[in-house]
Amino acid sequence: MSLREQIVTLREEIQSSLNGIASADALEAFRLKHLVRKGTLQGLVEQLRTVPADEKPLVGKELNALKALAEGEYERLQKSFETKAAEKMIDVTLPGRDSEIGHVHLITQTLEELKRIFAALGFTVEEGPEIEDDYHNFEALNFAPDHPARDMQDTFHIDDPAGKYILRTHTSPVQIRVMERQKPPIRAIVPGRVYRNEAISARSHSIFHMMEGLVVDEGVTFAELQGTLLSFAKQFYGEKSAVRFRPSYFPFTEPSAEMDVTCYLCDGKGCRVCKGTGWLEILGCGMVHPNVLRNVNIDPEKYTGYAFGIGIERTAMLRSGIDDVRLFYENDLRVMKQF
Ligand code: DAH
Repeated sequence: MSLREQIVTLREEIQSSLNGIASADALEAFRLKHLVRKGTLQGLVEQLRTVPADEKPLVGKELNALKALAEGEYERLQKSFETKAAEKMIDVTLPGRDSEIGHVHLITQTLEELKRIFAALGFTVEEGPEIEDDYHNFEALNFAPDHPARDMQDTFHIDDPAGKYILRTHTSPVQIRVMERQKPPIRAIVPGRVYRNEAISARSHSIFHMMEGLVVDEGVTFAELQGTLLSFAKQFYGEKSAVRFRPSYFPFTEPSAEMDVTCYLCDGKGCRVCKGTGWLEILGCGMVHPNVLRNVNIDPEKYTGYAFGIGIERTAMLRSGIDDVRLFYENDLRVMKQF
């Protein structure tokens, strides 16, 4: 067999064995057979001497091409086996990955804390429906039929045939439900979600939370309301806190008031959070209106009561320095993680 014929045969052999190489061991066997000093390729190189001078350049070229092919393919396969091996290896020096532990939402945290404080003051926790009827949300609470709060702009109406169902606009209807099912003495708080048909902005949202308080018994006075809410303010905003009451109006209380607490940030000196006043407006309250008691068949000559309502988002915002109520509902972890 001439050297040229041997080159052709070896090329075929090399090509077919390259196609079958599937492991680093097979590749090593290939190298030992063809690429070492005593291998097939070098064997043919040595025979070049015997080729007639005029054929040498051509045969030499063919042989070099075959050598380059075999070595090139060998290197390519070797690299691919190396990366595969590296991929399988585990780098034990890499720092571990923490699994993150979540926590309850700031609104839930705030509600839990309020419940804890009022439970210690002897209040039970009550609940009521979020889809409420006009009677409980407005009428029984002494809202006049033409009261502006009933306006379409404030209230979400349910598309029901009777047209009497709405999404509750406050937690006060649960006052009525509690007094319908329970006789005095009553000491209850009602945390829950409320809805208002309002444009969403940094200061107001169409969904938010409130907590209602209701106390009804013989001889309940405004002084008791003040003492209880002062105790709450000191526990929630700090022992140094003082409160003040400003006259206000709610249909279901008489007299009605709004309670301010001294700004916990500046101790009442005046700052950005309290807008320089030294006071933070935190809740509405008052003595339960005799009409409300009559609506649930409680004798206003025998029993008196007080009630209060706290906005939860507003409370959490004031205490945590959050300036946009929408942040509570966007579930941005960068925000949630801070509280
Ligand atoms: N329901 C009132 C509101 O939505 C808050 C409120 C004020 C509740 C005075 C009360 C209260 O129980 O006595 O703004």
